[in-house]
This record gives sequence, structure tokens and C-alpha cells, in this order.
Amino acid sequence: MDIVDLAALGESFTRDPYPVYARLRAQGPVHRIRIPEGGAEAWLVVGYEAGRAALADPRLSKDWGKASPSLPLGAISSGPHMLRADPPDHTRLRKLVAREFTARRVEELAPRVQKTTDALLDRMLTAPDGRADLVEALSFPLPISVICELLGVPDLDRESFRTWSNDALGAMDRKIREAAAASMAQYLRELVEGKRQRPGDDLLSALMHGSDDDGDRLSHEELLGMAWLLLVAGHETTVNLISNGVLALLTHPDQLAALRTDLSLIDSAIEEMLRYEGPVETPTYRFTTEPVTIGDTVIPEGGELVLVALADANRDPARFPAPDRFDISRDARGHVAFGHGIHYCLGAPLARLEARIAIRTLLERCTDLALDIHPAAITWRPGILIRGPRSLPVRFTR
Ligand code: HEM
Repeated sequence: MDIVDLAALGESFTRDPYPVYARLRAQGPVHRIRIPEGGAEAWLVVGYEAGRAALADPRLSKDWGKASPSLPLGAISSGPHMLRADPPDHTRLRKLVAREFTARRVEELAPRVQKTTDALLDRMLTAPDGRADLVEALSFPLPISVICELLGVPDLDRESFRTWSNDALGAMDRKIREAAAASMAQYLRELVEGKRQRPGDDLLSALMHGSDDDGDRLSHEELLGMAWLLLVAGHETTVNLISNGVLALLTHPDQLAALRTDLSLIDSAIEEMLRYEGPVETPTYRFTTEPVTIGDTVIPEGGELVLVALADANRDPARFPAPDRFDISRDARGHVAFGHGIHYCLGAPLARLEARIAIRTLLERCTDLALDIHPAAITWRPGILIRGPRSLPVRFTR
């Protein structure tokens, strides 16, 4: 099978990867690719049915210890965590934090999310020229404030952490990725140590001191891994749900008008934003532990790298009619923007809450919000893991 070198497709693929995935899907559900981040060879699964099946396939391990030694993968995270673990380790790690992220528990955060959103928009709307970068003004600071508050690290060095997180996940050069990961690991070690000396009424302190009914608690390394995962998830994902969602609305005036007329459509609109332009293009790595047949292709055992194109599964016409149309009134449920199976996103209720409050409040307060850049001129984050604009210039009447 020919190898599709995604990096060689250049800027047009980064800007609009959907037609490339659709062309591959027309040929079959699995393809050989070279990933832009670090250049490893991988198997890419496209289409809804095949993608969903792969996400839940226990023969595809999340344990990096199972990766073929020939793969050029550098460590990017600090310590073991859920997205690098299979059962029973995964089950145990997830159980320790799952209760913090239930829909009910997360709804209790609504007043705080609203307060933070209001404060950010107060500041944005004072811009004398009626212009702002929505990423800097709202999409980025909101999720990061919320997750820092939840974890109990209000004084996180945001700018450094953001650079490390963006580089560890998205830099094409392996050396840059690894240096960023090492800096972040060192910073997290100090942060966890500080917390140990000054515990509070927060999630990190609770995890440190054992919050489980069975008295289970995280080891020091697991604590680092958990802090890494939750903070990175807080930095890389919801920011792009808010930005991608607002961008979709501003480039589809009929849909924006429909939402403005009836803001009770917001929940359905958020699901459509997740489907149409979700923040995770291909989720975290999986490795074969047995031969896995997809379509007519047998992916060999021995730690072959397998990626699932969530972005394509959500645009498969066999599952979502007219998939390239952004339509907030469609039933977008069943999308795989949050993954599927035992690794289904733990933060989904929190991400939905933040996006709902952020976008609804933005529309209420900026009645003439408009893009301040031609959509074709927007620069997108590189790589195939995270999908979102680097910045989103908007304008409004003060
Ligand atoms: C719109 C925002 C978000 C999107 C699109 C998203 C997407 C995803 C996806 C696709 C996965 C599965 C990855 C895989 O199977 O390889 C996942 C897992 C996960 N997400 Fe999210 N995420 C979002 C927000 C968040 C937030 C805000 C948090 C935490 C505060 C979070 C925490 C996690 C965790 C802990 C896992 C691992 C779960 C496990 O392995 O059992 N996510 N997310």
C-alpha cells in the first residue's frame, strides 16, 4: 500500500483536511500515512463505522510500552495517565477522578463559568477600536481558568505552560516536542510539590490524599500524569471548540441568525459544532497487540501505530447526510468528537458547559459580531491532532 505523506500535502491540507480524508475514504477504510508530527508511519482509519469500531477495539492498546521500538515517538507527557493505559490500570485511574466530572457535578460549576465569561467579555468589549482576537480574549482564557481553579493551581504560569503544551503536542520537530515536554514535566513536579506543602479544597489535593472509597490513591508519578492530562486537555481542546464554533457561525449567517432568533437551540448547535469542526482531528495513539483486519487490510501485530480520523468519521455521508453542511438544527448526536469506548472524553460535560455559556453570552453581548479576517486567511494549528485557528480576529460595536 502506498504511503500518503500528510506533511507533503502542505498548507492546504492543514487549512482544509476534509476533502483529503474523503478521497481516502472513497478508496477504503484504512490507509498507510506518514504523520506530520515527527514523521512516524501509521495506519489511518477513515469513515464512521470503521473509526468507531477501531476506537473501541481492545486489540488496539493505548499503552506506549506496546509501541513498536522502530517508531520514532518521543515522550511528550509526564507520568502514566488514562490516555496511555489499558484496563485494569485505565479503569483504576479513571475511577479516581470520574466523580468530579459527572454531568451533575459539572453543572454546579455553571455560575463560576458564567462569572469568568462575563469578566473576559467585559474586558474584550472595552477595546477602543471594537476589535479583538477571540482566541486570546475568550476561547483560551476561559477553559484554562476553569481547569486551574478546579485543580487548585490558580497561579499557573499560563504563558509558559501554553507554549510547552502547544509544542509538546503540535511541533513538527521531535527535538522541540521533547524539550517542551521536559520543561513541562519539571514545572509540574514543582507545582505538585508546592501543592503537597499547601493543600487546599481542590481536586489535586484530594487526589494526593486519597479520595476513593477503597482508599486508593495515586502514586507520585500517576499524580504528575493526571495533572498533565487534565491541564493539557484544558489547554488544547475546549479553546478550539469555542473558536471553531464561533467561526462556523460567522461564516454561515443563516445559521447564526437562526441561533440568535432562538438561543434555546444552543445545545444542538454545540453538538453540530463538535461534529462539523471538532477540536480533535485524530485522537491519541493506539498500537496493535494482535493482527487487526479492517476492510480488506490486515494491520500486523507488534505495536503498529493506528490513528482514527475523527474529523472524517463525523463527515461520513453514510452516517450524517450532507455532512459538509453546517446545520445547527440537525441531529448531530452520535458524533465521535469526544471519542468512543472506554476512553470517551472524561471532560465532555465540562467542555459542553463552557462552550454553551461562552458562545451564548458572546452572542447576547455582541449583537453585531463579525469576522475581521477573510476565512481563507486564517492560520490553523499545524499537525493532525488538534484542529483550531491560531487566532480569530473579530469586530463588534462597543
Ligand atoms: C471540546 C473539548 C474536548 C474534546 C473535543 C475532547 C476530546 C477527547 C477525545 C477525542 C478523547 C479520546 C481520545 C482517544 O480515545 O484517543 C478524550 C479523552 C479525554 N479527555 Fe477530552 N476533550 C475535550 C475536553 C476535555 C476537557 C475539558 C477535559 C478535562 C478537564 C478532558 C479530559 C479528557 C480525559 C481525562 C480523557 C481520557 C479519558 C480516558 O482515557 O478514559 N477533555 N477527549
